Amino acid sequence: MNRELRKTVIAGNWKMNLTPSGARKLINELKPLIDGVTGCDIVVCVPFTDIEAAREACEGSAVKVGAQNVHFEAKGAFTGEISAEMLKECGAEYVVIGHSERRQYFGETDQVVNLRAKAALAAGITPIICVGELLKEREEGITEEIVSMQTKLCLAGLSCEDVKRVIIAYEPVWAIGTGKTATSDQADEVCGIIRNVIAKLYDGKTAEAVTIQYGGSMKPGNAAELLGKYNVDGGLIGGASLVAGDFAAIVKAAGQ
Ligand code: PGA
Repeated sequence: MNRELRKTVIAGNWKMNLTPSGARKLINELKPLIDGVTGCDIVVCVPFTDIEAAREACEGSAVKVGAQNVHFEAKGAFTGEISAEMLKECGAEYVVIGHSERRQYFGETDQVVNLRAKAALAAGITPIICVGELLKEREEGITEEIVSMQTKLCLAGLSCEDVKRVIIAYEPVWAIGTGKTATSDQADEVCGIIRNVIAKLYDGKTAEAVTIQYGGSMKPGNAAELLGKYNVDGGLIGGASLVAGDFAAIVKAAGQ
């Protein structure tokens, strides 16, 4: 990470776990553990139904609340969908977009991810855009091509100012929930590839300002090593974000 150029952000992705009462309990456990940590932004991305409870529980602490998806249209006949404005009013300041589970199980494409990111930005919500290769793609040696293409398509049409407000999470699909973590060199390399793509699309200064997280089995035991890399500006944490002590340890590894 490079704190002088960009923000370090540790975000928990709770996935489909915890009800509002469970959310309050976990945040209340977490708050004293991260009290006084500076140098990184802390976010919990919770199920839609937990957003208000989480925001209330986070009050007075450094922890911010995010969602895990957003519909790209502003309003209308889209049964079951949630708009960016709805998220904003409930207190979500961030939203995970294009997570590999959504790509895998719900057919999300880079084009849809791009529309969602635009909707989030228009509402003043920070999108956390996920990209990453499958195991097969890594084995075939096409990680760079895949991740570069995803980055280009997901950022299509965004202005330089918009891009500086985006967080990108590099999440190799083979490392998510598997216990297999990318090595810190692999994480640094691909986060660097993403930064280069942004430099080519925009300019070097913009690329240096974008927060690029690593996600995939980040835990207390490997966080410091991953976060020590120049191009890794934080983490998107799944499993370990559901255990207050583990999430707090990762926050401390990122903070000062
Ligand atoms: P994991 O999940 O930390 O459980 O591997 C990461 C993610 O899905 O964002």
